[in-house]
Amino acid sequence: MLRDQDRIFTNLYGIHDWRLKGAQSRGDWDNTKALLAKGRDAIIEEVKTSGLRGRGGAGFGTGMKWSFMPKTEGARPHYLVINADEGEPGTCKDREIMRFDPHKLVEGALLAAFAIGAHASYIYIRGEFIREAEHLQVAIDEAYAAGLIGKNACGSGWDFDLYVHRGAGAYICGEESALIESLEGKKGQPRLKPPFPAGVGLYGCPTTVNNVESIAVVPAILRRSGAWFAGLGRAKNSGTKLFCISGHVNKPCNVEEEMGISFRELIDKHCGGIRGGWDNLMGVIPGGSSTPVLTREVIENCPMDFDGLREAGSGLGTAAVIVMDKSTDIVRAITRLSRFYKHESCGQCTPCREGTGWMWRMMERMDKGDATIEEIDLLQQVTKQVEGHTICALGDAAAWPIQGLIRNFRPEIEKKIRARNSSAA
Ligand code: NAI
Ligand code: SF4
Repeated sequence: MLRDQDRIFTNLYGIHDWRLKGAQSRGDWDNTKALLAKGRDAIIEEVKTSGLRGRGGAGFGTGMKWSFMPKTEGARPHYLVINADEGEPGTCKDREIMRFDPHKLVEGALLAAFAIGAHASYIYIRGEFIREAEHLQVAIDEAYAAGLIGKNACGSGWDFDLYVHRGAGAYICGEESALIESLEGKKGQPRLKPPFPAGVGLYGCPTTVNNVESIAVVPAILRRSGAWFAGLGRAKNSGTKLFCISGHVNKPCNVEEEMGISFRELIDKHCGGIRGGWDNLMGVIPGGSSTPVLTREVIENCPMDFDGLREAGSGLGTAAVIVMDKSTDIVRAITRLSRFYKHESCGQCTPCREGTGWMWRMMERMDKGDATIEEIDLLQQVTKQVEGHTICALGDAAAWPIQGLIRNFRPEIEKKIRARNSSAA
């Protein structure tokens, strides 16, 4: 359980002043020059020591990702791109950082950019986040005016420019290479990887793409030490995490907690329990729509971190916890997600373009009971034809919720088919 003194996001609920003065009163921008003076290598080492894993969903080591950037600039400039295109259904944490703690992101951007040798950074923010983009721009303008960024940022001798770029509402632009294409002014379609952005990224130059939360925790790590962050949570799953808890709990909320907290403790402590009591819990999507739904038996005591949820057959993803009680038509819920992925497929690779449509149409039939029991296995096979056979992770993300449904809630699908068959007889 997170102690108050270990909390990073001290204005998560917007009760304090989010502007520069308020942020400074909470410790942001406190002698940032001294943090920069540690030097690039030392900053990367500290972030590696912290064990910070990417908070956008994939959980790739942040320090490790930074270390992939070339050591010297050469002819190609380096870029830091911050992914604020938060679009994973159920996820609403980066939004709160940008609304209420934008200076943590601006300061983190300076520190991260310095560490990877970038003089420019772009925050790519989803188009719907209008107020958040406004707050960010105010924070950036304040930081420029105070000499914290811009020429000779914080008096460090490092020049650093930060830009907000608004997206236009496509989910796929949250995929890092599609985001880069979109930033370059092209249609947002993912690139084949490798090469990864550290080799060939924005405008063909070395680029690091990090999620908002990953960048916003960097100042705290550098001030309090990597060892402090690593001491929270479990080995390889360290630090604090913003959880977005929605659905059938008594008090849905965003909350910062220690990684590895059990699902039960998370819900009881922050959400006042499950609506109608724990016996009314049906299933939980633990990390945003792409993570497979789990049963109560599996999730109740599960540690809410990367390894805990992977071992449970799902994933931490974006830590968007969607709770469903027994009033939920779970087949309908997953069918709705299938439609979402079909709609958001960019269409450039066949297994995803065609497969998301097939899966959605089959799910619609399952939902109506208008299928045979054998077709559940056929649907499972179709998901396997999509999973791992596409350019980007959207194909996998479309397959996994269905696989989770079949694995953990197959009787619910069969119930619908049997009910339809018996009413037709
Ligand atoms: P990924 O595992 O392919 O990559 C993660 C990061 O590590 C990327 O930045 C990638 O460039 C880097 N990386 C991986 N292997 C590398 C290597 N060998 N060398 C250099 N760099 C390497 O995952 P991806 O596709 O970036 O993200 C998928 C996740 O995104 C999903 O798990 C999902 O939870 C999450 N997601 C989040 C959304 C949001 O709103 N935050 C929206 C949709 C998905
Ligand atoms: Fe586009 Fe889907 Fe292929 Fe990703 S997997 S590149 S979204 S068609």
